[in-house]
Amino acid sequence: MRAKKEYGNADAEVYVRWFLPFAKEFYRVLKPEGSFVLNIAGSWQKGTATRSLYVYELIVELVKQVNFHLAQEFIWTKPAALPAPAMWVTIKRIRVKDAVEYILWFSKTPNPKANNTKVLQPYSDAMKYIMQKGYRSKVRPSGHHIGKNFNLDRGGSIPPNFLTFSNTESNTHYLNMCNEHNIKIHPARYPFKLPEFFIKFLTDKGDIVLDPFAGSNVTGEAAEKLGRKWLAFELSEEYLKGSKFRFDLKQKKLIA
Ligand SMILES: C[S@@+](CC[C@H](N)C(=O)[O-])C[C@H]1O[C@@H](n2cnc3c(N)ncnc32)[C@H](O)[C@@H]1O
Repeated sequence: MRAKKEYGNADAEVYVRWFLPFAKEFYRVLKPEGSFVLNIAGSWQKGTATRSLYVYELIVELVKQVNFHLAQEFIWTKPAALPAPAMWVTIKRIRVKDAVEYILWFSKTPNPKANNTKVLQPYSDAMKYIMQKGYRSKVRPSGHHIGKNFNLDRGGSIPPNFLTFSNTESNTHYLNMCNEHNIKIHPARYPFKLPEFFIKFLTDKGDIVLDPFAGSNVTGEAAEKLGRKWLAFELSEEYLKGSKFRFDLKQKKLIA
């Protein structure tokens, strides 16, 4: 799910108070080994060049009040981010581009179900070269000892906790059908690869994925493609209508 963006510091408290009752319900319905993944953008104190602390306050409250464990923080980097707001970035030149959002992975227990072998990435050329040539066992400047097992091909490299997915889709079935039927296109859609990553990483086939703030339901589409069951809640009926296009029979054939 994704949380709302525009909050200054005074509003931060309001936001945390608004969010906690939802979080308690997420905790209640989550399986013991399940995960809760929260996408949240940082924000600034209104009228200043400095940062609101609401993301940090929310993390603390989710752990202290709701009993979630913070499993790991991910940073979602967005290379195409605009230099906004203009006042601070392009006029006063005080800030740089804000090109990341947080993806916070919470769990119900200290040992959530997760498997990083399901989200391995292709090896870099440098790594392929090392695997071919072999690696001499030695102690690195950091003090870490790299043993000879480092050479083993394990099917891909373990991803880092920063993820780069651009929102560049421009000609999908969803967009075309919304345009055709005059339905409002959701303005804040996930890139498909984002929910896909966490669904693969944290769930197995047949598990249930729930997106309580589903928007155009990219999460449901990814879950469907990956053979998971899914539930989607969304306040706006128009967004729900649009989201149905993701599951057209024709579209299913395109995915298959
Ligand atoms: C950032 S959008 C999610 C976009 C989605 N990730 C996608 O890829 O299309 C958040 C959505 O939450 C919905 N929303 C806000 N409050 C809600 C509530 N109380 N219950 C259900 N949906 C809500 C909004 O209408 C909005 O569509």
